[in-house]
Formats: sequence, structure tokens, C-alpha cells
Amino acid sequence: MLLGVNIDHVATLRNARGGVEPEPILAARICQKCGASSITTHLREDRRHIKDSDVELISKNVSTNLNLEMAVTDEMQKIALKIKPHSVCLVPEKRQEVTTEGGLDVAGQLEKITKFVKPLKDAGIEVSLFIDPTKEQVEASAKTGAQFIEMHTGSYSNAYGTENEEIEFLKLKNSAKLAQELGLRVNAGHGLNYENVKRMHEIEGLYELNIGHSIISRAIFVGLEQAVIEMQNLVK
Ligand code: PXP
Repeated sequence: MLLGVNIDHVATLRNARGGVEPEPILAARICQKCGASSITTHLREDRRHIKDSDVELISKNVSTNLNLEMAVTDEMQKIALKIKPHSVCLVPEKRQEVTTEGGLDVAGQLEKITKFVKPLKDAGIEVSLFIDPTKEQVEASAKTGAQFIEMHTGSYSNAYGTENEEIEFLKLKNSAKLAQELGLRVNAGHGLNYENVKRMHEIEGLYELNIGHSIISRAIFVGLEQAVIEMQNLVK
């Protein structure tokens, strides 16, 4: 399994003071040095953490795959086609949310998303859909032409250590199996930490995990390099 590191919260900290540090580009370089398989940044509509200039700087100066998380909007499609990241992950976005609270409703917008995916794929960008682990969303995702899904692990993470853990875990396991049968590659992420990540090994064929908040939080105490290496050791 591979580890993609989401560095959005380096930008959150920077923006808290409106200055230049800590610099996301330096975080991306450290992740590259530690052998992360990708650097993920979510360019939100409100630019609350990562900014356009961060994405440009990282795409031009870091050779590790850039995974751009973005909403299904014309503005974001234009940016992706200009920057040409290695991959994009399409996510739902609500202005008031603290973080991405749930998966993209692919089943409910099949035509719109299928149309949105095509020019990105034609430009050589891998497309992933961030979805809840349900049969309906997996089956719809397979019809869009996207090569990947990223299963939202938020419900599993919240249920970890409670009586609902197994139910949430089985949703991930079954969805991953179905997705692979339908020809999709499967990533996962959201809310994963140094403890609950261990069970991801029980899901066959998972390709990459995208993890941000827990790594950046740990980095405050042990440094980013150490935090990434510790997570790599749990993931690989
Ligand atoms: N994957 C996606 C699609 C996300 O939106 C996020 C959060 O931005 C993550 C993974 C990482 O989640 P976390 O920061 O909880 O590790």
C-alpha cells in the first residue's frame, strides 16, 4: 500500500498569521524525500488553506505525484487542465463544512460527473472519485470513466473502537471488493490515524491511503520527516 500525504494543514497554520510560514512547498519537499507516493492538496473554492500559488509551486518544483483534490466546478476543471497534476480527486464541497464531510454523490449526478471526467482523462490526468463506501456509489463510479475511487473512511474512523467499528469496516471491505471487480482501483482516506490505519491491511488490493490531519498533528511533536516515516512504516 502507498501513502499519499495531504499537506493542507501546513497551509492552515500559515494562513492563521497571514504570512509565509510554514511553507507548504517545504512540506511537500520533505514528503518527497521520505518517499511519499503523492502529495495531496485540496484547493477549496474559498481557498481557506491551500492557494493557487501553492499548487503551482508544488507542481513545478516537486517531482512526487501531485494529487489535486477539487470540487466539480468549471473553475477547478480549468485549473486542473492548466496545471496538469498527476491525478485529481473529485470531492463534494460545502462552504460551511470544517472538512469534507461525506462522499461525492456520483449516483445522483452520473451524467454531470461523467462529462466532467472526460476532458481530465483526455489530458492524461488520472481521475479519482471520493465516495462513501456503498454499492450504489461504487457502481455509479464505475460508469463514469474514472480510474480510481477513494473510499471515505470518516465513518470508519469515527466508529473505531466502538460497537459500530465492524459495520463501518465491512462497508469499506465490501466496497473495495466490488470496485475492483468493476475495474476500478481503490484508494482510501479521511480521519485515518496511527492506530485506526492498521486495519486497512485487511482490505485486499487497496492502492493508496491519503492521510493529512494526523500526520501534520504528529509532526508538531516529532517533526514532519519522522511523522511521515512512522506512517509509512504502518502503511507499507
Ligand atoms: N482524502 C480526501 C478526499 C480528503 O478530502 C481529505 C481531507 O481533506 C483526506 C483524504 C485526508 O483526511 P485527513 O486530513 O482526515 O487525514
